[in-house]
Amino acid sequence: MAGGAGAIGASQVRLLVRLGAKVVVADLNDAAGQSLVAELGSGCVFVHADASSEQDWTDVVSTAVSRFGRVDMLSNSFGIAPQSTFADLSYEEYMRLIAVNQTAVFLGIKAVLTPMKQQRSGSIVNVSSGAAYRAQPYLFAYSASKAAVVAMSRDAGVELGAYGIRVNAICPGGTRSELNTATTTAWARTRPSYDREHAFDRHPLGRIGEPEEVANMAVFLLSDAASYCTGNSYLVDGGLLAGIRP
Ligand SMILES: NC(=O)c1ccc[n+]([C@@H]2O[C@H](COP(=O)([O-])OP(=O)(O)OC[C@H]3O[C@@H](n4cnc5c(N)ncnc54)[C@H](O)[C@@H]3O)[C@@H](O)[C@H]2O)c1
Repeated sequence: MAGGAGAIGASQVRLLVRLGAKVVVADLNDAAGQSLVAELGSGCVFVHADASSEQDWTDVVSTAVSRFGRVDMLSNSFGIAPQSTFADLSYEEYMRLIAVNQTAVFLGIKAVLTPMKQQRSGSIVNVSSGAAYRAQPYLFAYSASKAAVVAMSRDAGVELGAYGIRVNAICPGGTRSELNTATTTAWARTRPSYDREHAFDRHPLGRIGEPEEVANMAVFLLSDAASYCTGNSYLVDGGLLAGIRP
């Protein structure tokens, strides 16, 4: 579980462990990752990893193989969402965002291919965003990276089906997490019209999503229950892309 210390990642880890899976939690956030592993016991191990580092992916996969013998699933659930206008985002900031949100997904898929191809089975879920389909203020680079994750998941699903490996993306809408709080806090600071208290009032379901609700979809796709699902992306957005309340 890459990004396993975050809200959506940790919710998947808890659910997977409850269902009997053994999980490697990989994340930059050592404190949160170690505390999650301490909570969940021996079915879970933490590895400090920067998902944009190919060497770190090698370490994550070799830990999974040495500790648990195989790699059945990969969830890419990390991400960053710095806000900026086109004019203000530097080349370096743009490239870092692409390295984490987009290139790291490629590196993760590549890293698990050897064991999954040998097993002739595997399931990969990449966490994209509703922003892949709908503009969000000052998040153009984030949106571009998330659209790339949808496209990469589709192409990987097509290429890897021959090996019994399924690849899908999920696209959450606003979901309670540190990343979401940072985004809405910045919007409240920079956009006088943004009403944080009532931001979800006109969503069809009228509320923010909980990380467990996103995790349910991710774990479904990771599991054999989704055995005929590949190359697709699945919205978990409270209906926002469908429309707003009348
Ligand atoms: N929360 C939302 O509203 C929302 C909406 C749509 C999509 N998403 C996506 O969901 C995913 C999970 O985000 P979240 O909402 O749980 O936020 P979060 O901040 O709780 O978790 C993000 C995690 O990613 C980790 N991370 C960041 N950069 C990393 C790197 N280079 N290597 C390894 N780990 C790294 C962080 O340490 C953190 O644990 C992200 O891809 C995000 O873009 C979130």
